[in-house]
Parts: sequence; structure tokens; C-alpha cells
Amino acid sequence: MPATSVIGLQWGDEAKGKVVDLLTEQHDIVVRYQGGANAGHTVVMGGQVYKLSLVPSGIFRSGVQCVVAGGTVLNPAALLEEIDGLTLRGVPVSENLMLSDRAHVIFPWHFEEDRLMNDQGADGESIGTTLRGIGPCYRDKVGRSWAIRLGDLYREGFRGRVRKIAEAKRRSLASLGTGGAPLELDADTIFEQYSAYAERLRPHVADTTAYLLDAVEAGKRILFEGAQGALLDIDHGTFPFVTSSNSSGVGIAAGAGVPGRVITKVVGILKAYCTRVGGGPLPTEQDNATGQHIRDRGNEYGTVTRRPRRCGWFDAVAARYTARLSDVDVLAVMLLDVLSELPELRICTGYDLNGRRTADFPSHVDDVRRVAPVYETLPGWRQEISHVRSFEALPPAAKNYLGRISQLVGRPVELVSVGPDREQTIFVKP
Ligand code: IMP
Repeated sequence: MPATSVIGLQWGDEAKGKVVDLLTEQHDIVVRYQGGANAGHTVVMGGQVYKLSLVPSGIFRSGVQCVVAGGTVLNPAALLEEIDGLTLRGVPVSENLMLSDRAHVIFPWHFEEDRLMNDQGADGESIGTTLRGIGPCYRDKVGRSWAIRLGDLYREGFRGRVRKIAEAKRRSLASLGTGGAPLELDADTIFEQYSAYAERLRPHVADTTAYLLDAVEAGKRILFEGAQGALLDIDHGTFPFVTSSNSSGVGIAAGAGVPGRVITKVVGILKAYCTRVGGGPLPTEQDNATGQHIRDRGNEYGTVTRRPRRCGWFDAVAARYTARLSDVDVLAVMLLDVLSELPELRICTGYDLNGRRTADFPSHVDDVRRVAPVYETLPGWRQEISHVRSFEALPPAAKNYLGRISQLVGRPVELVSVGPDREQTIFVKP
């Protein structure tokens, strides 16, 4: 029973969607298990462009069941918009999409809290969230008293719960400072609106934990699709400049409700360089012409927020850390074509921290800020590689670059991507 997981090993946006799409045809079920509409990927199918945030891209393949599991946070309006967009264009969603009744629901107050708290920042610097209400919803989940799960929308006490929470939120938002016009939180309006969403979502809502445990026993092939990247993991990333869920491999068991042992293969996704969107340290950042070259060639602008991404050299210290953390078996190196034309390339092989050399990723964000990357310089390649379809046909410098990444991260490279199309993929023979 092969179960595969796909985990981003950097700060998100590693082009996981393409790998998930390639792997989907070998699986029966695709599972999103953490995060919410802060993630985003663009799927091009039959010449049409689809923007997906929560619905797994497996939705495009008939016979593949897509599960949004209990560890996610759902904005029903955004989710319905995605479903409607897909339905309108003939993608059959009704049969193939399941939503966990355990998933927590994002309410209007969460957006407001996200905006206010983000402005106040952490550590004197804005976290630069996607403003999708993700962090505040997870905060309420952990706090419990003000949380509402998808399953609650169908229970008798729902109206009373909305009233109680809206009242509490009015008070707590006032104490945060309004930062603009105070938000109207009319409990009855919110109740009506969310009840209408609930009715429309009803056919999809299920106990997905039970479904997945049965699927494991039945030997179904499951693909777990991580959102964001491991360095944005709430516990193991560059806290507090992280997202609010476990976006590294450690999040799968908790978020999906299946034992971690069922996973037989972990694919770690790396860009051939580094990017980050939002605040927080990026040790190899190149705020210069090299960074701009990467941004232009890689179209490094956020899918959800369109913010320009910060770009830098490949950081092997960070990648080795997250590959170990997520128990990665093989690597997929994405966007290698973006580095073409650079005369030479750098890879960060270690950090200097307080006068000492280390190959370990620091646990405290202040130290991540303070490290001086130690670089190794490798020759670049001038020729275009986006048409190359075999490892052997890559320029020697590109092969050398990939070999060094593999060596430093300690995992074999199984797949190399040289462009957005499915065909622009090189499968490396072991
Ligand atoms: P939040 O997830 O909206 O709370 O944002 C927290 C941090 O995670 C911010 O730095 C965001 O830019 C970053 N982030 C959240 N989702 C993604 C993603 O899908 N790709 C890259 N960065 C993300």
C-alpha cells in the first residue's frame, strides 16, 4: 500500500503543485491536511488556468477522491468560490471532494484580527501574513472557547454559539484597536450567511478521519499534499515568522488523522534557489541584481497575494535540516531553468554564527538572522535547458550543481523540473 507525501522543504512556493499533479495518477486519494486558503497554486489544464487554494489538484482526475482533512482551516466563502469556478468549467466536484467535519471554520472576525495583529507585528517586524484569517482561526482552535468546527454548523447550538462568540470578539477587537472603521459583527447576519454556506457544503462534509483509516486498511494509495514549506512550520520553522500549522512532514499524522507509519515515500520539494514571501530571516537573500534576475526569470510573485518574493541562493543548511525533519526519501529540484545564464552559482554550505562554523539550522530566529552564510561557488551554465528531457542531456555544470545539492542535503534527486509544463520534467534514474 504505497502512501506518498509531498513536502516543501523551504519557505513555501516550491512548486509542489506540479509534483502532486504528476503523482496523482498513481494514487486513489489526495489529502490536504493543514493550512487553508493561504496556500495557492495555479493549474493549467487543457489550456485553461485554474487557481486553487484548498481543493487538491487531484480534483481534475476522475476517480481520484480529494480530501480536505481535519487539520485545515476553511473559509467557506472562498471554498465555495473555488468549487463554483470548477463546476462552471465542467470539473466534476460533487462526487470527488470530501471536507472534514473536524476542520475549523474561518469567520469574519478572524480576518479583522489577522489585519490588526499583523500590523502590530512580532519582534518589531510584521509577519506579513496572507491576511486570510489563518493564524487567528488556529489560535481559536487551540483556545477552544471561541472555536467553531465545520461539523458545528449543522448542530442546534450553532446560532447561540455565533452570538456568544461575536459578542466576545467585539470586545476583544476593540481592545486590539480598530485600525480603521470598527467591524460590524452582527451575529444573526453571520449565522444566516454561514448557514447558507453550510447547506451548500453539506454533500461534501464527512468524518474524513474514519474514511482515511478505512482507506489505509483497504490498501488504497494515498497522496498527502503539504501546503507552505517546512521552514514555515509553527514548531520547527523560523518562529514567529511562520504559518500557524505544522507545514513540515510532522504535520501529516495530526492533520490527517492517520498514523505517520503508513507513509512509504516522502518526496521533498526544493527550488534550485531560495525564496520567501513575508517577513522573517532568509540567510541567503540576494537583495541585488542576482535576486532580481531570479525573480524575473522565475516569476517570483505570490500566487495568493501577488507580493514580490524575496530571492536568494540555495541554502543547503536549511534544506538538510528540513529533509531530516520530514524524513525525506527523495528530492525533487524545481525551477532549475531559472538559474540559466548566471555566470556562477553559489550554494550555502554552512553558517558562521558568533565566530563559529555550523552546519545546523539555529532554533532561535535571532540566530537565523545573525548567521553569515558560507558559500561554495560553482560554475553556471549559459544555455537554455527548458527543452532538456534527460539528466544526461543537461549541461555538465547543471549536473554538477544538482549533484552537489544532493550530496549536501544527503538525499538522491529523483526529479528535476525545467519548466511549468508536465513534459518539462526530468526523471533521474537511480
Ligand atoms: P499566514 O499563513 O497567512 O498566517 O502567513 C504567515 C507566513 O507564512 C507569512 O510570511 C506568509 O507569507 C507565509 N505563507 C503562508 N502561506 C504561504 C504559502 O502558501 N507560500 C508561501 N508563504 C506562505
